[in-house]
Amino acid sequence: MKRPVLIGIAGGTGSGKTSVAREITRNISPENILLIEQDNYYKDQSQLTMAQRVLTNYDHPNAFDNDLLLVHLNQLLDGQAIEKPIYNFAEHTRATITDRLEPKQVIILEGILVLEDERLRNLMDIKIFVDTDADVRIIRRVLRDIKERGRSIESVVEQYMGVVRPMHMQFIEPTKKYADLIIPEGGKNQVAIDVLVAKVNEIVTSMI
Ligand code: CTP
Repeated sequence: MKRPVLIGIAGGTGSGKTSVAREITRNISPENILLIEQDNYYKDQSQLTMAQRVLTNYDHPNAFDNDLLLVHLNQLLDGQAIEKPIYNFAEHTRATITDRLEPKQVIILEGILVLEDERLRNLMDIKIFVDTDADVRIIRRVLRDIKERGRSIESVVEQYMGVVRPMHMQFIEPTKKYADLIIPEGGKNQVAIDVLVAKVNEIVTSMI
């Protein structure tokens, strides 16, 4: 197997990173593509109480275990399988089980801060930033956090104004300058998805 190709997809909360990543993945044969979410590499907080866990700043680069993520990415790029951690957003910590993932020719790494760490950027062959207006992102976030992450409207608003928004401006938005491609409106941008799928297919074909 040739060295796999790593594609990084960054962007603010609710920007549509997951839809872009899933749309690309859905259009490529599953044996050739692997999707990894940086969210699964939030630091393990099992030693902390729930009261302590909710105080963590989840939008700061220090919240992520990028050391482990780097080890795993290097293993995948070397053709080795990994034991990916699984993150539980309601419990704010890692699950006790892991997910065994085999290497594939194309690896997509998606997350708010994947372009912030120079070590991660250096491993990437293609860097993408999904750029969606803040009003659209906050609406998506409110709906998702209440439906899927067990939150109240008050807690989402308080977290957004107190932490998510300032961290976005300080750490996420500035990483746009590292992107090879900036995609407006995420997964709804069919032209961008089609171009990326064509590019990934070209990469896969060239590796056979
Ligand atoms: N987060 C949280 N509680 C945790 C861990 C993370 O609320 N215990 C939040 C952080 O505040 C961060 C967000 O999770 O802003 C990161 O996920 P997000 O980018 O919103 O989700 P994706 O589905 O990856 O992205 P997109 O909406 O762009 O598809």
